Amino acid sequence: MSKRVNIYDLAVGGEGVGRLEDGRIIFVAGAAVDDELVVELIEEKKRYTRGEIIEVVSAGEGRREPLCRHVHAGCGGCDWQHLSEEAQIEAKISTVRDALIKLGSIEPPEVGYVAGPESLRYRTTVRVGIKNGRPAYRRSRSNQLVQVSDCPIAHPLMDDIFAEGFFGTANEVTIRVGARTGDRLVMGHPTADEFELPAGVVQIGKNQTRRGASAHIIEEVAGVEWQISARSFFQSSPEGAEMLVALVAEWLTAQDSGEQVLVDLYSGVGLFSGTVGDWFQKVIAVESATSAVSDATNNLGGHVAIHHMQVEKWVPELADVVIADPPRAGLRAQGVEIIRKTQAPHVVLVSCDAGALGRDAALMASGGYELDQVDVLDMFPQTSHVEVVSGWIRRN
Ligand SMILES: C[S@@+](CC[C@H](N)C(=O)[O-])C[C@H]1O[C@@H](n2cnc3c(N)ncnc32)[C@H](O)[C@@H]1O
Repeated sequence: MSKRVNIYDLAVGGEGVGRLEDGRIIFVAGAAVDDELVVELIEEKKRYTRGEIIEVVSAGEGRREPLCRHVHAGCGGCDWQHLSEEAQIEAKISTVRDALIKLGSIEPPEVGYVAGPESLRYRTTVRVGIKNGRPAYRRSRSNQLVQVSDCPIAHPLMDDIFAEGFFGTANEVTIRVGARTGDRLVMGHPTADEFELPAGVVQIGKNQTRRGASAHIIEEVAGVEWQISARSFFQSSPEGAEMLVALVAEWLTAQDSGEQVLVDLYSGVGLFSGTVGDWFQKVIAVESATSAVSDATNNLGGHVAIHHMQVEKWVPELADVVIADPPRAGLRAQGVEIIRKTQAPHVVLVSCDAGALGRDAALMASGGYELDQVDVLDMFPQTSHVEVVSGWIRRN
């Protein structure tokens, strides 16, 4: 059934939001604010529906022609290719502000915006599906794969891997490059059998990593060399990682925080412990992933105590500063309780999901913390993903 709708907002997750005549909300992928659309209803629930664009009757001001040719073929890898850079920035700021107000019940200070590295060719890690041995991204909200021979947001060091790589019977691959070292690796899920890759690209199967094998790249960030294994998390680009560290360092400097103990929760390969951590006499890093812990052990100095465990299981110690960079689900009540028990006067929360930030903000406020500063760091241009750095001060 087709309907005519006007889009008045963009939701967390990137879809356009409109309202049908019967009062139900409708979510539409690929929409821009002030678009007038004809959509086909593809999902109907009691309170909301979902539509697919059939025709753009009148385009909102923020709509543009996608920069990537694969969008027209249905590639859903970047959900905001159809929005101008200004519209993307405006939407990221307002999504974060709305999440803090609606989910966090907080009237936030002005939400700052820090431009990320480049708006294209920036990603140094991508995970792509495989169709007939070749790279492919999923269609929006679907498991259907669209083959691609290039990716405009991927770092140029991946060009020949996209263009020429053959990935055997893998379902998915993780491609990771060191932009500043030239290192390159591909991990096949579940195997790397029958891969054909350009010379010099290291390959490994996820099945091999389960049996103890490992492969890593070296990347340079903030003047430090980092070992990053195929299975470890790393930020979307070295420039983005540097900006993130700089933003955290700036806020901590402005707070004149103590320099005895830093607790780095969800520490990954040690990005914060190995940079701002140098200011502290003692650093405690907590991380659950085996590969990241092994990288961090290699990357970090002796003053960092690495706890290989889930944050929820760590026994809190008193700290001057906590930096917490949880996965998409956020800190949740258990993570916030751990932070509260450190009694840290200053906390930096790095959130990669606006909804999780909103929910964590409510928990942080009821745990005795006040939001001092919040900035969107635009690490993922062309997509609705946000990276948000918020600084919290403990109320006496
Ligand atoms: C967003 S990454 C941040 C990593 C690091 N701070 C960085 O900037 O590179 C989140 C990290 O948390 C780890 N992680 C996920 N759930 C966890 C948990 N419950 N306890 C400890 N670490 C966890 C992941 O393995 C990942 O390394």
